[in-house]
Amino acid sequence: MKDIMILGIESSCDETSVAIVKNGRQVLTNTINTQIEIHKQFGGVVPEIASRKHIENISNVTKIALKDANISFKDIDAVACTYGPGLVGALLVGVGYAKALSYALDKPLVGVNHIEGHIAGNYITFPELEPPFLCLVISGGHTHLIYIRDYTEFEILGKTRDDAIGEAYDKVARVIGLEYPGGPKIDKLAKDGKAEITLPETYFDNLDFSFSGIKTAVLNLNHKQPDINKADLCASFEKATTDMLINNTQKAVKAIKVNKIALAGGVSANSYIRQRFKKLGEEMNIRVYYPEIKLCTDNAAMIASAGYYNFIKGKISGLDLNAVPNLKIGEN
Ligand code: KG4
Ligand code: ZN
Repeated sequence: MKDIMILGIESSCDETSVAIVKNGRQVLTNTINTQIEIHKQFGGVVPEIASRKHIENISNVTKIALKDANISFKDIDAVACTYGPGLVGALLVGVGYAKALSYALDKPLVGVNHIEGHIAGNYITFPELEPPFLCLVISGGHTHLIYIRDYTEFEILGKTRDDAIGEAYDKVARVIGLEYPGGPKIDKLAKDGKAEITLPETYFDNLDFSFSGIKTAVLNLNHKQPDINKADLCASFEKATTDMLINNTQKAVKAIKVNKIALAGGVSANSYIRQRFKKLGEEMNIRVYYPEIKLCTDNAAMIASAGYYNFIKGKISGLDLNAVPNLKIGEN
């Protein structure tokens, strides 16, 4: 079969990224221009600044990607871009650029759901991984437990009713004086602490999550006891939030009888979470997958991979593709 080369574009938040991926799994390049240094000074992503930086950078990032992969536009079979969920102004830059490329090169356009992209990060790290499997998507914007029935067929089993887990990590980090993005800083500091502070965990009858209660509890505790040991607080926060993730995942595994669990999204880079899921896998005798660190946070290789599976299923977008900031998964 002929090789299929997808050019992927990601611009949903604060990373401008362009990747070239062969046959959905082989990354020729995954060029990422991150705006973290810019948004750091504001303690979080400023949407308007993000859009402006994307528009400034996208052509250059594409040029670098093609050079790195040592290919030219004519070698590409389709252009895939994230069209949601995400920040609308940021998404529009990637969508607009992808449409222009698709039109000028006369190549198909494939709109990709960002969450599908995160899931596909695992296909790149594990070339042998195939659906069906259970995937826990944990990022700055999402906390979803999803049954991956097939490459483009998804069933939501549970999701957060309020904050995404990464949002809670970033907020907790901010109040204890750690820089944006807070997740990696909490990960590091927690290693020096003891998880001995009791924090509230929220459970429902179904597989939904809630992280606003624990977030508020940590904020209040830190306010009332400014001298509280920050490393202990981080370790306790990590433990309690991971308990909630593990509880629902375990319930889902039992309910749908899968033998593979994948983690995805920025928060899946967390070393404590990875260690707890590894242990869960051993206890339940199931295989646990998580993407290599650079494929956990936002990048275009995962978008190109998800784009490939849509492309081979004939799921092509028209030139009227628009950004959908609140795009859902498993409903379209
Ligand atoms: O997937 P991502 O890049 O963007 C979204 O789609 O939301 O995820 C970013 C999130 C941020 O909240 C960041 O703090 C978190 O991932 N994150 C981590 C770690 N690395 C990134 N959270 C906990 N531990 C980490 N090591
Ligand atoms: Zn993301």
